[in-house]
Parts: sequence; C-alpha cells; structure tokens
Amino acid sequence: MGSGASAEALTAASADDLKGAVAALSDADKAKVIAALTAGGGGGARKSVIGGNWKSNPASIATVKELCAAFKEAKFDKSKVDVVICASNVHVAAAKEALGDCGIEIGIQNISKTGMGAFTGEIPCAMAMDMGFTWCLIGHSERRSLYGETTDDTLVKLKNAQDAGMKIMFCIGESLAEREGGTTDAVNQSQLEGALPLVTDWDKFVIAYEPVWAIGTGKVATPEQAQETQANIRKFVADKCGADKAAKVRIQYGGSASPGNVEALSANPDIDGFLVGGASLKPDFVKMIEHLGK
Ligand code: 13P
Repeated sequence: MGSGASAEALTAASADDLKGAVAALSDADKAKVIAALTAGGGGGARKSVIGGNWKSNPASIATVKELCAAFKEAKFDKSKVDVVICASNVHVAAAKEALGDCGIEIGIQNISKTGMGAFTGEIPCAMAMDMGFTWCLIGHSERRSLYGETTDDTLVKLKNAQDAGMKIMFCIGESLAEREGGTTDAVNQSQLEGALPLVTDWDKFVIAYEPVWAIGTGKVATPEQAQETQANIRKFVADKCGADKAAKVRIQYGGSASPGNVEALSANPDIDGFLVGGASLKPDFVKMIEHLGK
C-alpha cells in the first residue's frame, strides 16, 4: 500500500486487493497498519502506561502521604492511561490507602519467584494480588546488576506473576558500553526472547525499555534514539509473535524521563508511556500523568 493511496483508490479496491497488499507487508509494517486501524479515540494507537518507580525512597511516611495527596489530584482520563506507583514494600499499603479510588494502581518493585512458604523476605505474587497490588516490575536493571537477577529468574517471575493475574512491566535495556559497541538491539532481544513465548495476556504485559546509561543520570535518550530502539523492539516482537501482538504490546521508555521531556518523547509512535524514577518522587509527576491522560 503506497503512502499516496487515495481514498477513492482504497474504496474502489476489492477486499482481495487489500488483503494482498497487507500480506505483502513486513511483519513490522503489518503491526503499524493494525495499530492504525485499531486506534482508539484521542489518536493514540495503544493505551498509555506510566509507572513511578520509587525504588528505596522516600525516607518518611509523611512524604509518601504528601506525594499521594498530590497525585490524587491529577486529572486524567483512565481510558487513555494506566497509572501505577511502585512504592517500596514497606510503603505499598500506605500508598494504596492514601491514593484511594483515584484510579492510580500500586505495583511491587521486586516480586518473588517463589510462592507461599518458608522464603524469608520474599513477596509472593498471589499475596500481592490478594492485597490489591496489581502490578509488578520484573528485571529492573538495578535488580540485574546489583542483586544478580538473571534472565532465567525474570522468566520464572513472569510465569508466576501471570499465573496470579498480575500486570507486568518487564524491564530491558543496554549499558553504555553496549550502546557504544553497537549491540543495543542484540541486548534487548536477548533479555526479551525467552519472555515473549511465555506471554499469555498481551494487555497485561508491558515492555519497559530503560537504557542503563540514562537511569538516574539526567542523561535522557533523545526522542530519536528512544523511538528507533523501541521500533526495533516492536519489530522483534512482530518477528517472534506476529504482527497482531506487536501492534498491541505497549512499550515504555525509562531513564531520566521528566515533565520537561515527556512531550517530545511521547510524540513518537513506538513510545507508549514511561517508567519514571526520580521525577516520580516529586509532586509535578502529575504533569506527566496529565500529559498522557488528556
Ligand atoms: P530515573 O527516572 O531516575 O532515571 O529512573 C528510571 C528508572 O530506573 C525507572 O525504573
């Protein structure tokens, strides 16, 4: 289908012509067509998703309450954006209570790969769900680099989280040396390839692309870098799982995302939201939520 196809030509084309034109496209282009045809109101092809990853912050429960009080005031259309706060395990219950029914959900930063039983310090998926903590992060680069979480670990966690019905932000991303060495796509693919065949519900599986060199450094990927890499991730999903899954899967950008760069980054077709560290610990995180949810 050439970009110059006129409305008249398209209307005149037979169903067979159209099917033939779509069949001739690459999987990645098919994904774009499916995304365009299934776009909801407001122009975005996929519902946005923004997560605040508080990591081991803030220091006090008073600040948790202040932040939640600010976020509760955010004006956003829940049909356009999923909003999730991943507080520390000691703060999740307080955050959930403080947010009330404003539509912001709660995520667990480090869900366990084991279930109920004698596993000191672990948070089983079923227990989290029972408490109403509906999202989790899996494979964050800090878990991988500081605590030895392996790609195999992420796959066990993925299976457990899905079995419990949790929604997942599955984190991948390259180091600075890997980007400079030209292996960005290969690294992302190696972190994803075991996970993709395990996905059972593509509405509940979100890919969080977080270049390690941009995390907590203030060095944000340019919109072009993020878009190019995320388009390649979507193409990989198309190759492995088909165009319909690639069109559906949401891909977040993470790494020094902030109210100042949310607009330029989210204007790109393959950036469906954000996973935010430092900027989610400030009241004006609301601006990011509202930008995606208007
Ligand atoms: P920053 O937004 O602080 O760079 O952190 C990103 C991140 O690691 C979110 O998971």
